[in-house]
Amino acid sequence: MKIVILGADGYLGWPTVLYFSNKGYDVIAVDNYLKRQITEDIGVSSLTPTPFLENRAKAWKEASAKTIEVRIGDVCDYNFLSDLIRTEQPDAIIHYAEQPSAPYSMMGHKEAALTLQNNLMSTLNIAYAIHEFAPNCHIVKLGTMGEYGTPNIDIEEGWLEVEHNGRKDNFLFPRQASSLYHTTKIQDTDLLWFYVRTWQLKVTDLMQGPVYGTFTDETSLNPFLAPSFFYDEVFGTVVNRFVVQSVCEYPLTVYGSGTQTRGYLDIRNTLDCLGLAVEFPPSVGELRIFNQITETFSVKEIAEKVKQVGKLFDLDVKIKSIENPRTEKESHYYNPKYTGLINLGLKPRLMSDENLAKMFVTAMKYKDRINQNVIFKGIKWN
Ligand SMILES: NC(=O)c1ccc[n+]([C@@H]2O[C@H](COP(=O)([O-])OP(=O)(O)OC[C@H]3O[C@@H](n4cnc5c(N)ncnc54)[C@H](O)[C@@H]3O)[C@@H](O)[C@H]2O)c1
Repeated sequence: MKIVILGADGYLGWPTVLYFSNKGYDVIAVDNYLKRQITEDIGVSSLTPTPFLENRAKAWKEASAKTIEVRIGDVCDYNFLSDLIRTEQPDAIIHYAEQPSAPYSMMGHKEAALTLQNNLMSTLNIAYAIHEFAPNCHIVKLGTMGEYGTPNIDIEEGWLEVEHNGRKDNFLFPRQASSLYHTTKIQDTDLLWFYVRTWQLKVTDLMQGPVYGTFTDETSLNPFLAPSFFYDEVFGTVVNRFVVQSVCEYPLTVYGSGTQTRGYLDIRNTLDCLGLAVEFPPSVGELRIFNQITETFSVKEIAEKVKQVGKLFDLDVKIKSIENPRTEKESHYYNPKYTGLINLGLKPRLMSDENLAKMFVTAMKYKDRINQNVIFKGIKWN
């Protein structure tokens, strides 16, 4: 099978490239280095050294004898993307190529406009290119659990049966995001649902929670193959940030009461989920939605877990509640369903002390690359 991975240079994209290459897929890795550009613009960088895609592909060839084809180009450039799809005829395309940070999208008008344009145009172009040039190709798009927000009812997997005035129908579950970034993910889902109905596309939309972890089976083979790993307020996800903060003895920045609850997953489970989604595609004309998380925690619970593991490394980790810069509910009901991927065969890898300890080891290895000034800047929603 041939698979195109868009956003291949990213935190999730690169390990996904290696995962599918290792499984014997023909992999085409696409990126325009947007993330490198915008992180440089705001003065933050990855904890792990991240060579350019071409060099990483060479390192993978040496480690595995497998070839990854690299294409540097912008998914928002329709000529580039449609040429690629027309000539390569992939069986599946994974869409990671978006601006993925909620705080970045709230920094100002320039950042909001970039997020909106990049995320929606990339999704529109993919739908069009697949419709025009490879209509049997399965589109796998990364959504986020943040699309649902924190409603006061159970969160279903994508769809909700509504009974109104004695009649019933299925609708997309009501969505109410709490950042512009998450709102673009809602709009992505709506775009794809429209084109699924109109053009009978095959789409899987994965509502993923914040991912944590520094390594996968393939990236562990060689330090050159490590994924990028951001620990700053703008691009770092919470568990990754807390581990780095512990290692450099920076008190864990818990926003407000820390009772905000979300679903999380280990980066290796992200790959397992993508593997299952690709192996078992949806039907023609189906928008299939999975909630891609394995367990839920409040921010306070995560901080406590990280603090406990810090003790194994003789670190006296402090937890500090700071004024919440975001506009979000702190105390809320949260009960998402996440059985779809488990029914396909997903084996959850839970947030054990052992897994967190491995993250500490990586963070300690690169301790001299930590810049404490980027850990908290206080980007406010209002
Ligand atoms: N990391 C998480 O915890 C998480 C959680 C939920 C959803 N997601 C989603 O998963 C996807 C990947 O996340 P990530 O953490 O790997 O982000 P990332 O920023 O590390 O990777 C995204 C990659 O896409 C590239 N890109 C962006 N726009 C592009 C364009 N127009 N053309 C070509 N390449 C482009 C960037 O340069 C970057 O390398 C995103 O869509 C994100 O919203 C991530």
